[in-house]
Amino acid sequence: MLHRSTNNLAIKYFRNVAVFVTLGFVFLTCAEVNHEKEKYTKGARWHHYIELINQAVKDYKDCSNENCSCFTSVLKDDFAVWIKKGGITKDDLKAAHSFGVNYQILSHKLFRQEECMFPFRCSGVEHFLLEIIDNLPDMDLVINVKDWPQVYHHQEPLPVFSFSKVADVNWDIMYPAWTFWEGGPAVWPIYPTGLGRWDLQRDIITRAAEAWPWDKKEDKAFFRGSRTSSERDPLILLSRKEPALVDAAYTKNQAWKSNEDTLYQPPASEVKLEDHCKYRYLFNFRGVAASFRLKHLFLCNSTVFHVGNDWLEFFYPALKPWVHYIPVKSDLANVRDLLLFAQQNQDVMKSIANRGRQFIIDHLRLEDVSCYWKQILLKYAELLKAKPVKNKSFKEIKSTL
Ligand SMILES: *[C@@H]1O[C@H](CO)[C@@H](O)[C@H](O)[C@H]1NC(C)=O
Ligand SMILES: *[C@@H]1O[C@H](CO)[C@@H](O)[C@H](O)[C@H]1NC(C)=O
Ligand SMILES: *[C@@H]1O[C@H](CO)[C@@H](O)[C@H](O)[C@H]1NC(C)=O
Repeated sequence: MLHRSTNNLAIKYFRNVAVFVTLGFVFLTCAEVNHEKEKYTKGARWHHYIELINQAVKDYKDCSNENCSCFTSVLKDDFAVWIKKGGITKDDLKAAHSFGVNYQILSHKLFRQEECMFPFRCSGVEHFLLEIIDNLPDMDLVINVKDWPQVYHHQEPLPVFSFSKVADVNWDIMYPAWTFWEGGPAVWPIYPTGLGRWDLQRDIITRAAEAWPWDKKEDKAFFRGSRTSSERDPLILLSRKEPALVDAAYTKNQAWKSNEDTLYQPPASEVKLEDHCKYRYLFNFRGVAASFRLKHLFLCNSTVFHVGNDWLEFFYPALKPWVHYIPVKSDLANVRDLLLFAQQNQDVMKSIANRGRQFIIDHLRLEDVSCYWKQILLKYAELLKAKPVKNKSFKEIKSTL
């Protein structure tokens, strides 16, 4: 009897569980269908970008810091024309002479022509030359410290070193910009003496990134900068129309005269690079040439939106679109679509932000910058066909440390 009643209870219990489970199953199935549907519509809308990202990530292989191999392809491209010509002659150097500041390395000492139009830029370059000089053979060098590259493809190539160029347009050999050490652009009032040393900036911005984890960041695109090129206008205009999507505004530059120079609105105040970390999507545009800010933006652990792909610094080709940043067309035609994609695909954005930051942290340390200087100068010296003869008017440059 007792046995039977236990049995009945058991049956009742199982029946209830069965009903509950069935109901639960129906409920679950409904939720799943809805979820699938949502995933499908969302997936269809953004399928194109997701595919591009998946493919790019699949094709990407991280590089090794040994011999700064991350940047080897740039070195090969920049020297290809000289390898093809069989080397750099005395005449080539003579013809290059007026396109930059002339240096000589003789018995591991550095000499320079007296005048340098931008003393802090020269000093930023010299820091790296002096650091590696014990490893360098004798050579003549022409280093352009202006913003613009100097040698165009419609001319004969000349052996001139420049920090930035357009690959299909200029012959210049790219070197790591002075601004990694000093001589970066002064931005009043936030950077009165220039952006400051790269290793220090890395620490400052990394701390800001830690204070602004993804969930605390505003779900918005951000840009502050002066109107060095009208390429930036469409983003400023989009910001005025859709301030919830983009916060972009022009700041004054030295040439500012009236609101006309900030696209008919009063200039916005400058914002420090570490304060960019408050926003999830950070825009980089070319300036006069490549913009120095790109490397800093990655440190925020926000997603970098990089506009255009013409202007380069030596490390740009190692950064891959969709892997490390979101590529945006120069005319900004697709920018609104990309921002909506970003807002609706947060996990994707977080992983791009994280990969971009990790690349810069791992592969663009000051020692990688020195390593690349060494690689390009050793390759260059190998191609020189004439031994340098000491120019008596040059002065010796010594380390100030
Ligand atoms: C790096 O360069 C050194 C000297 O040129 C060479 O012996 C070494 O094999 C290189 N390492 C790699 C990984 O290419
Ligand atoms: C960067 O962001 C990702 C995802 O938002 C997070 O997992 C990671 O810890 C962050 N890294 C740093 C150094 O803050
Ligand atoms: C030495 O340098 C000066 C200044 O750059 C230059 O005008 C002159 O031609 C150079 N002399 C030789 C022999 O190269």
